[in-house]
Amino acid sequence: MAEIRIRNTNERISGEENVKAFLDKQVVLYEHWNADKLPAHLKENFILSDENKAEILATFDTEIKDLAGRRGYRTWDIIALSEATPNLEELLKKFESVHTHTEDEVRAITAGKGIFVIKGTDDVGYFDVELEAGDVISVPEHKPHFFTLMENRQIVAVRLFIETEGWIAHPFEDPTFSKA
Ligand SMILES: [Fe+2]
Repeated sequence: MAEIRIRNTNERISGEENVKAFLDKQVVLYEHWNADKLPAHLKENFILSDENKAEILATFDTEIKDLAGRRGYRTWDIIALSEATPNLEELLKKFESVHTHTEDEVRAITAGKGIFVIKGTDDVGYFDVELEAGDVISVPEHKPHFFTLMENRQIVAVRLFIETEGWIAHPFEDPTFSKA
């Protein structure tokens, strides 16, 4: 289950209901899928063939179409990152700066872990959402954020889009952001 860490206070929020209530207030969608549905050969597999990716999408077809139908997402794919990803360091450096998009950034984690760092309301400031398999998040359009991996440095996620062009990152220069 996802956990929150508020960067200014180091306060942690855990438990599905607490996390959901916090994220609701921040207008960040949080849901949960049953990651146990994945076939065993895909559970801890971070180097995926096209066939593997199609299997993951087929496994969660109902969940994907339900979410897409409610939120207007029209295309989806799979992203897999691990030490085997060429230029992982460079990619992470590119990811790890605050930016916005003109559409939601939607990720459903199917294996591994990752963190979204998101700019919250003024009373909260930046907070981390630590995600694991089964966690589904949608960071709303125009909300400053970035994504990074956790210490295990591996993740597989379903990405959903309205338009694939919507996912271009726009840098957001924020003097209130401090790396933790
Ligand atoms: Fe983003």
